[in-house]
Amino acid sequence: MGCFCFFSLQKWLKDLNMKDIQIHDKQFAIFIDAQQIEKAITEVAEKINLDYKGKNPLFLVVLNGAFMFASDLLKKITIDCEISFVKLSSYSGTKSTHIVRELIGLDEALTDRNVIVVEDIIDTGITMENTIQKLRHLQAADVKIATLLFKPKAFEKDYSIDYIGLEIPNGFIVGYGLDYDGLGRNLPSIYKVIDQDN
Ligand code: IMP
Ligand code: MG
Repeated sequence: MGCFCFFSLQKWLKDLNMKDIQIHDKQFAIFIDAQQIEKAITEVAEKINLDYKGKNPLFLVVLNGAFMFASDLLKKITIDCEISFVKLSSYSGTKSTHIVRELIGLDEALTDRNVIVVEDIIDTGITMENTIQKLRHLQAADVKIATLLFKPKAFEKDYSIDYIGLEIPNGFIVGYGLDYDGLGRNLPSIYKVIDQDN
């Protein structure tokens, strides 16, 4: 009996550990599973559906990281809307470089449009600030922000974020669109680095 319990416990611990993954040189543990992500996205979509009824918003998706969030979010948007993409980058490895490189710019006319910028995560807030400044120059009627994840303790700016899926503590994460030096974007859940001291 005691032996059976020991082996059950051992199996349970093994199952838990199996949720750890290795990407490049780092170990990651499961942090937010696919069900929790879906719930957060449903809540964001419901709010946007109410707020933008009859306004035909333009969703501006920030690539690469936001592709998976945008795909699942837009499937839950039931009002008329349009979708476009912009590609920015400010990360290298697990740290923000604090320099935003614009890789692919906008080709839409934004004059008088209600724009919702769709991001995977707002960390320092530098990327989004830069994006918003660019959009304001293009005379959009209104620019709001929808992010799946927000790290309030890393945020260095003071603008407001209109739609937040989940607030999370600092610490590097991968999965559901987010990468560690190119890998991990395809994971359906979100994983947090184990061996980092922040
Ligand atoms: P920010 O400019 O510091 O707010 O960072 C914005 C961008 O950095 C996000 O859109 C992500 O692409 C990337 N990023 C921020 N935090 C993480 C993370 O924990 N893992 C992977 N990418 C991240
Ligand atoms: Mg991003």
